[in-house]
Order: sequence, then structure tokens, then C-alpha cells
Amino acid sequence: MKQICVVGVGYVGIVSGACFADLGNRVIALDIDEKRVANLNKGIMPIYEPGLDELVERNVKAGRLSFTTSYKEALDGTEFAFIAVGTPSGVEGDADLQYVAAAARSIAENMTEPLILINKSTVPVGTGDWVADIVKEAQPKPIDFSVVSCPEFLREGSAIGDFMNPHRTVLGSQDMEAAEKVAHLHLPLRAPIVITNLRTAEMIKYASNAFLATKISFINEVADICEVLGADVKEVSVGMGYDKRIGPMFLDAGLGWGGSCFPKDVRALAFMAEEKGLDPKILNETMIVNYRRRELVVEHLTEMLDGSIKEKTIGLLGLAFKPNTDDMRDAPSTDIAKALNAAGATVRGYDPVSMDVARGLLPAVKMFDDPYSMAEGCDALIVVTEWNEFKQLSLKKVKGLMKTPVIFDARNIYDPAEARELGFNYRGMGRGFNGNGS
Ligand code: UDX
Repeated sequence: MKQICVVGVGYVGIVSGACFADLGNRVIALDIDEKRVANLNKGIMPIYEPGLDELVERNVKAGRLSFTTSYKEALDGTEFAFIAVGTPSGVEGDADLQYVAAAARSIAENMTEPLILINKSTVPVGTGDWVADIVKEAQPKPIDFSVVSCPEFLREGSAIGDFMNPHRTVLGSQDMEAAEKVAHLHLPLRAPIVITNLRTAEMIKYASNAFLATKISFINEVADICEVLGADVKEVSVGMGYDKRIGPMFLDAGLGWGGSCFPKDVRALAFMAEEKGLDPKILNETMIVNYRRRELVVEHLTEMLDGSIKEKTIGLLGLAFKPNTDDMRDAPSTDIAKALNAAGATVRGYDPVSMDVARGLLPAVKMFDDPYSMAEGCDALIVVTEWNEFKQLSLKKVKGLMKTPVIFDARNIYDPAEARELGFNYRGMGRGFNGNGS
């Protein structure tokens, strides 16, 4: 049994900590937020993630997982310290590293025996070396340590499955012996392990996220072309996806990406390139194409409502940035709701799990407890998040409740022909009017 400390019980920290505990390690998870730790000790999770409550409870009961605010306690007898604190976007799109620096300093001040610091947070290329300098400087007396980069590739909503079944584990260090020890911790996951230097590992994370974001922006650009040429992007994606060189994933056109990772990582990679005098054209266009999706929805809906959404009542089906999470960070719903409000519409919202978070963020949006009561009296509905429960809605019932049966399906979850047959004025994204979408 290895002893591991995880610093930061946000998304990555709590999931990684609980999963490492489940693999049989003794994990002490630390956070400086006392309320968060007190809640965890009562079984209250800091985030919504399917399966997390049970995983945490099981491992706490088994004595493999505990929570603390004390670095002394967390580092006592620990050989591995994972840093999993937040790296929000700074003002210029750079990554804000204050929490990483604070964690490194506290670790340095409290470590009493040799330690491997493992960075899980997404940090600019070169941060591993910088962390090493911080630790060296902050140590009261020199104790051996190594820094290893081990970027996470977890998706919100399926984070536990992603941790337990990774496509690969990436490790970067200047100290190969330390990297091998961290590799050992990951062996039960039975995934290929790529060991490289620190900067390359940090870059693999940015390049992977930027590639996926670009893939989505690409299919969204194709969607717009499909629309004017009368093709259906949903079927185009299926046809493309069978090509093994392309693959079927991340080809869902619609509202584009949001959340806590893609927006900040694409921005940060572009920032790093620009700082060195490069002009990262693809990254910049990827962002432009993505944010344009949110404006397009409002423009298309205005057309559907005969040129004006003023005084119209619009219901948003889904508010979280994607299904199976309550995360509202950079969620398309926030920009869409604000644009609709600014154009004089009354905006309503419903989401299966993010309503509490959404209420604080979108005070001008009237929230409803279920999709049907929200639809009652609406002039139009927009599918913003593709929750499964929306795929099961009785569109017939919805139509009977609405003032005018207009649906803008911004995630392409409904069959256009079926929706139109029921009498809806239906529009998806990238579903050409002369093709299947007509
Ligand atoms: C992402 C990465 O997938 C993960 O590896 C990394 O560690 C963190 O960032 P996450 O943000 O949780 O994970 O969600 P993901 O499922 O990857 O979706 C990202 C965004 O892309 C969402 O806004 C989603 O709605 C959008 N998306 C995804 C599409 O618009 N189309 C797709 O085909 C896939």
C-alpha cells in the first residue's frame, strides 16, 4: 500500500484521490478550504459527478481515504504529493498559477522526508521547472525531491470511468527514477504509459485539448456549410467517423465547447505561442468559430420568430455546459440567455442538476422545476444541453403546452422530420433544409 497526498479537492483532486484509494492506496486529500473539507468529512461532495459519493464513501469506510486542511498531517509518511489545484485563466488568457505556487510552497515548508511532487493541474509549459525552483527556495532545509508532470484527461460527467480506463498515462520528468515510481502507481490501470521530459508532458496536455477543441470547431464550420448546401451534418459526422484516421468522437456539431478546460487551455496555448512571437492562426480561429455558435443561435431563432424576439418567451432546455455535470463555467447558456434578455425576450430555464448554480449566475432567467412547466406558454424552446431526459420528452405534449411550437435544437437531438410532422417549426444546426433536415 502506497501513501499518497492529493493537494486540492476540486474536480481533478477529488476524483483522482478517490480513484487512487479505490486502487488500494492510502490517500490523504488536502484542501485549504475548511468548509470544503468539513463537508467532505460529512460525505458532502464539492462537485456533482456521477458515482463519486459512493466511491468516496466506500474508501473512507475502508480507511483508505481521508481529508484534512493540514499539510503536516497530509505529508507525514507520504512519498507522492499530487498537486491538483485550479489554474484559472489570467486576465490576458495566460494561466493563473498562484494556487500552484502556494501549494508548492506549503509542500516545501512541511515536507520532512524525500518526496515526489506530481503536477496534475494543467500548467503552462515550463511550470514543472518553476515549481522545482519554488520548492528549493521555500524548503527550510534541503530534502531530496523530484517533480513529475502527470496531466489529467478526465471529462466531467465520466471522470471516474475516464480515470479507471485511460487511453494513456503521460509522465514527464527530468528524474527517470521518479517517473518510473509514478508509472508504478498507474500500472493497475493497464494503459500505455508515455514517459518523456517535463515540458513535453505539459505540452501533450495542451496539444490534446486544443486538438479536440479544433475538431469540434471544424465540424461546426462544416455544419454551417452543410446548412447552405442542403446536407445533414449529423450523417456527415457518422460517415466521417468510420474512417479510423478520423474517429467518431468529438464530431457532434452544435453549440460548440465550453466548460473549465477547453476555453482556458486553447487560450493559454495561443498565449504561450504569441508570447514567443508566433501567430497561432488555427488556435485563434478555433476560438472565433466556437464563440460564434452562441451568436448564431440567437440570430437563427430571431429569423424563426419572424425577425424579432422582443417580448417573446423563450425556454432554455439545459443550462450546464454539457450533460451529466452541474458545471456552468463558460456554458453557452449564459451567453445565449444574456443575448436573449438584451433583445427584450423573457428567458426561462430548466436543467436537471445545475439549477442552483444557474440561479446565482443568471438572475434574469426564471427557473422551472421541470421541462413541461417551463414549456407552458413559451414562444420557442432552445435545446442548449443534450441531457438524455430531453431526448425522451414527449414532443406532442410539449407542443400542446407551448404558445407557438418553435424548437431550435442547438444540439441536434431530435429527428427533424419527426418534429416537423408533429407540427413544430424546427431547426437544428447544420441540418440542411434540402437534405434530411427539410
Ligand atoms: C475536456 C477533455 O475531454 C478532458 O480530456 C480534459 O481533461 C478536460 O477537458 P470536459 O471539459 O469535461 O473534458 O468535457 P468534454 O466531454 O471533453 O467536452 C468539452 C466540450 O466540448 C463540451 O462543451 C461539449 O459540449 C463540447 N463537445 C464535445 C461538442 O460540442 N461536440 C463534441 O462532439 C464533443
